[in-house]
Amino acid sequence: MMNTLASPPTTLRRLTVIHPGTFGGTQRLVSSFCEGAATCSEIHLVSRSASVCTEHELLDSDAIVFATPEHFGYMAGSMKAMFDRLFYRCMQDSTALDGGTESLLAGRAYAVIVCAGNDGTGAAESMTRIITGWRMRKVADDLIVRRVGGQAGSARGKIADGDIARCKELGQSIAEGISMGAL
Ligand SMILES: Cc1cc2nc3c(=O)[nH]c(=O)nc-3n(C[C@H](O)[C@H](O)[C@H](O)COP(=O)(O)O)c2cc1C
Repeated sequence: MMNTLASPPTTLRRLTVIHPGTFGGTQRLVSSFCEGAATCSEIHLVSRSASVCTEHELLDSDAIVFATPEHFGYMAGSMKAMFDRLFYRCMQDSTALDGGTESLLAGRAYAVIVCAGNDGTGAAESMTRIITGWRMRKVADDLIVRRVGGQAGSARGKIADGDIARCKELGQSIAEGISMGAL
C-alpha cells in the first residue's frame, strides 16, 4: 500500500483512501482496494489514516475513498472525528449564498467501503450523509462487506475471498476511471 506525502507530478491524478488505520478487516479491504488501484500506473495513490489526514490531502485529491468498520450502526469514531475536524476546513464562506458556506470539494469523486459484522448500512449512510454536505459525487455503489460465519455484529467471522476481490476490482476501476478523466 502506498503511503507518501510527497507531491505528485502535476499530470497524475490523485486517489486518496481514508481509513481508521487499525489492523483488522477494514484494513484488509483497504489493502485490496489499493492493490487494485496500483495496477493503474497513471494515478498517484495515497492511503491515509483518518486520525492524521489533513484538509490539504482531501483538497488535493481528485477522488477519495472513505473506508470504515461499522460500529453500533455508525462509522468508526476515528472517521467521525476526521469529519468533525475537517468538514468546515473544506468549506469556504460564500457571499453568493448570502453569507453561507460552499464546499471546496464539490464535484469530486468519492466511494465508500464498509467492513461489518452483519449489517453495514448504518456506517455507509452516516458517511454519505456528511459527504453529501461536501457535495461530492458518488461514483460507485457502496461496497459493504459482511463477515461470514461469525456471530452477528462480531469480528469472529471471516472476510470472503470474493469480497476481497470486489475491493480490488473497485480500486482498479476507480483508478482507471480517474486516470482517463471518466470519473
Ligand atoms: C464496538 C463494535 C461495534 C460493532 N457494531 C456493529 C454493528 O452495529 N453492525 C455490524 O454489522 N457490525 C458491528 N460490529 C462488527 C464489526 O463491524 C466487524 O467486526 C468489522 O469487521 C470490524 O472492522 P475491523 O475488522 O476493521 O475492526 C461491531 C464491532 C465492534 C467491535
